[in-house]
Amino acid sequence: MAENSADLSGSEREQRIAELKAKMQASAKKNKAQAEAPAKAAQEVKAAAGAAVVVADAPAVVVTGEPTPAAVSAAHAKSNGAATNGATMAAELAQTTTLAAPEPVFVEDSPEVKARKEMTRREFMTYAWGGALGLLALQGAAGLFFFMMPRFKAGEFGGVFFIGPESAMPATDAPPEANVAGKFWLVNTTDEGIKALYMVCTHLGCLYKWEQANFRFECPCHGSKFTREGYYIEGPAPRSLDTFLVTVENGEVAVDTGKKTLGSPSSESPARAVPV
Ligand code: FES
Repeated sequence: MAENSADLSGSEREQRIAELKAKMQASAKKNKAQAEAPAKAAQEVKAAAGAAVVVADAPAVVVTGEPTPAAVSAAHAKSNGAATNGATMAAELAQTTTLAAPEPVFVEDSPEVKARKEMTRREFMTYAWGGALGLLALQGAAGLFFFMMPRFKAGEFGGVFFIGPESAMPATDAPPEANVAGKFWLVNTTDEGIKALYMVCTHLGCLYKWEQANFRFECPCHGSKFTREGYYIEGPAPRSLDTFLVTVENGEVAVDTGKKTLGSPSSESPARAVPV
């Protein structure tokens, strides 16, 4: 330790006081510099990080214009030692953040994105169901079309029979003429014109016959009887004879065996033998 001040002379004491003042000023300046060092270092880090973002062109860098809190804390920790250069830290930090490969990050879809994906799935199911229903409807329409198409050619039972000119039809008092292929009896009547009577009995489906002696149709199965015009007379048949549609096209008589009309009920027959 220095000598006792009491032993010093006047000039030596003044010199000693000056030295002490200089030391105190130097110490105060050093303390002030140390106190300002963290803030200065932080400014340098921020500037360097911003510059790093501008220079770096890697698309996966996560750094923004603001340094991360972790980076700032690290820089502060270094600067507290008062021996670390803030610019060096900033350069290291910038290099680290620029060159470091970004970790693969799983980003969960936002509710909007989820809703959009869900909507897409729903739309797909809607289109799938719509397509299936469309195919089903198309199949049904095709089946209906083929069902409605005429399945019989002209001259085949179920189709149209052209039986000659109107002027060549049998007389109104002539016996009926059998058309075996068309399964009908052709008669010409005074009141109803030309009629085509279906050859099948309306009772249980037997083939009735024309009995010229009685001038009427008679069924051999259960005895039902019908007039020349096809009206019910007697027997178990529930109705008069069924008829096919007869038309005249360009003077030609046509019988459509695909269009049958059921006979009227036997109770309504004008030729009924036994009154109801
Ligand atoms: Fe003709 Fe019975 S089938 S009367």
